[in-house]
Amino acid sequence: MLEINKFDRIIVANWKLNGSIDFIEQYLQELNCSKLESSNNCGIICAPSVYFHKLVGRLNPLFLGGQDCSNYSEGAYTGEVSATMLKDASCQFCIIGHSERRQIFGQSNEDVCIKAMNLIANNINPIICIGETFEEKNQNLTKDIIYTQISKSVPKNATKDFVIIAYEPIWAIGTGKIPSLEEIDNIHSFIKNEIQNIENYKILYGGSVNSNNASEIMDLKNVDGVLVGGASLDALEYKKIMNS
Ligand code: PGA
Repeated sequence: MLEINKFDRIIVANWKLNGSIDFIEQYLQELNCSKLESSNNCGIICAPSVYFHKLVGRLNPLFLGGQDCSNYSEGAYTGEVSATMLKDASCQFCIIGHSERRQIFGQSNEDVCIKAMNLIANNINPIICIGETFEEKNQNLTKDIIYTQISKSVPKNATKDFVIIAYEPIWAIGTGKIPSLEEIDNIHSFIKNEIQNIENYKILYGGSVNSNNASEIMDLKNVDGVLVGGASLDALEYKKIMNS
């Protein structure tokens, strides 16, 4: 598994249910990976798994990531993709517990914990997503929600050397709204310093990140990178965020 401590910033592109073979060819041309400066930044492209083979060997110095993995290892589970299969297809990172998987597909913290264990067993670095709804924020429940999500979804054998946490307020995803910089830093500091066994984990911020706001967000003391959805579908925009 990749040691993530050596990276200053981690910049994840989450393509979600987007892309095609033509899209990938154009994206790679615009990204021009061979010309990307090899810096201490870790860029990860989380693509739909059916397209991994189109990206393998063409992303260096960036890494390939998945967007979810099955709770199961193998067997009669139609439509699932296991951590072993992701590994087999050269995937090095995998997002799990994204709010869209939690809200639309009913995944629980316990599911996320099993997925994280499966990924770790297959030497894939998990990127575990957490975050509160707008109602929870308004009821001042953000820290309680995050605390519960982390305590239940980060497995006991996780360590800060290879597991990443992504704080994504659900109300900020795809909406153009983001918390104030102070709020982001405050929540990240809470996660890094006040939750037992999570001390000094790498914590990414996600939710409406683009090339205009990435730099000020990543400059915050407790932010180790960003998870980018919509803006990452534009290769030039993603490149700008990486150079922020
Ligand atoms: P967004 O998505 O950047 O489009 O808000 C982020 C995410 O869902 O990971």
